[in-house]
Amino acid sequence: MTRALPIILLPLLVLLACGSGASAELAEAPKGRARGEQLFNMHCTLCHGKDGKLGLNGAKDLTVSTLSREEMVARVTHGKGAMMPYKNVLTPAEIDAVVAHVRSLRKNG
Ligand code: HEC
Repeated sequence: MTRALPIILLPLLVLLACGSGASAELAEAPKGRARGEQLFNMHCTLCHGKDGKLGLNGAKDLTVSTLSREEMVARVTHGKGAMMPYKNVLTPAEIDAVVAHVRSLRKNG
């Protein structure tokens, strides 16, 4: 009787392994707003801070920025002053996502 137990448990373990694998994938590649926030935390907080207000190295406070969405995309793509261009670092879709996050900081602040 007890010998049959591993055979019953095996498919269950495989199922569990697959389940956790899928959620790890989700955490690595979140979509939409979460993606923008993740990119912002990775590339932008160094100077702008998590809330966009840090202003290190002469960085602008993003919560009071009056730039339009297009101007922000251009600023991130081509850089300005101490801020480097991100056109070789982020894809246009990633720049869109990160700018969407910047604009959400602005509304909340
Ligand atoms: C090395 C520091 C640094 C990093 C990293 C950085 N920035 Fe900046 N950022 C600056 C500086 C400095 C300015 C001001 C440039 C100027 O107008 O002279 C600025 C300006 C901006 C502006 C324009 C704000 C305004 O109202 O003029 C936006 C938008 C912006 N940054 C977004 C981002 C995003 C998004 C990222 C990440 C992809 C990022 N920055 C990463 C330093 C940085």
